[in-house]
Amino acid sequence: MNPVYEKLEKCLESVRKITDFVPRVAIVLGSGLGDYANDIKVECEIDYHDIEGFPVSTVPGHAGKFIFGYVGDVPVVCMKGRVHYYEGYPISDVVLPTRLMKLMGAEILFLTNASGGLNTSFCAGDFMMITDHIACFAPNPLIGPNIDELGTRFPDMTHVYDEDLREIIEQTARENNIKLQKGVYAQLTGPSFESPAEIRMLRTLGVDAVGMSTVVEAIVANHMGMKICGISCVCNLAAGMTQNPLTHDEVQAAANEAAPKFKKLLTESVKKF
Ligand code: HPA
Repeated sequence: MNPVYEKLEKCLESVRKITDFVPRVAIVLGSGLGDYANDIKVECEIDYHDIEGFPVSTVPGHAGKFIFGYVGDVPVVCMKGRVHYYEGYPISDVVLPTRLMKLMGAEILFLTNASGGLNTSFCAGDFMMITDHIACFAPNPLIGPNIDELGTRFPDMTHVYDEDLREIIEQTARENNIKLQKGVYAQLTGPSFESPAEIRMLRTLGVDAVGMSTVVEAIVANHMGMKICGISCVCNLAAGMTQNPLTHDEVQAAANEAAPKFKKLLTESVKKF
């Protein structure tokens, strides 16, 4: 058997020893959303350390566990903390949690993250619904023998971010007076922030926001036929757009400040999924 798939099945076995909860929506919590569990009727929590072979994040603010419960009547699994490629994990480990949540039963993937804004009409603190992405600056997580149990060798990427979910999120933002931008997100590997020249290059390529996660997760979710949506919290204007140097603390602080509105948008949208 494919070793990546074998590891995934082992992880699923570990989870199933603890809970038989079947989520419909899988939510990946980005920076600032770590305490989102307060908005969930929690049924069960599993520390990533308790899942055999599961990659555990090293980033401050990304301590990890799965939270199972209900948002309204919708059964969800939330990832509190994700692993990033820049931490040094093989890309197959970075996307393992996403694949695992699909095997638990999740049909929908709601991705969130923090990003830097390139679009000159964006402000720090804006939310951006991801309408499409640029993946080619990060390793493709489907490289290697195809896992036929999960999906096809050459998946179509024309409609990664689901139109119906996007409509629900837009409507929810309107109803709650939350400003919602739309745009193209690019994942770079990090961990260094981009240089001003890289930001100019990305803008020329049509990128609206840049970050260090999300796209690889969207690719494997699309490979498995999940419905996907993503919202990015634009925590700062990208390098070279202001005089300020970028720091992780600044990103974290902006994400924390935006968190109440972000949670509202997330919760009220998921209730309608
Ligand atoms: N670049 C990349 N990732 C980020 C940024 C940024 O400016 N802000 C938050 N995450």
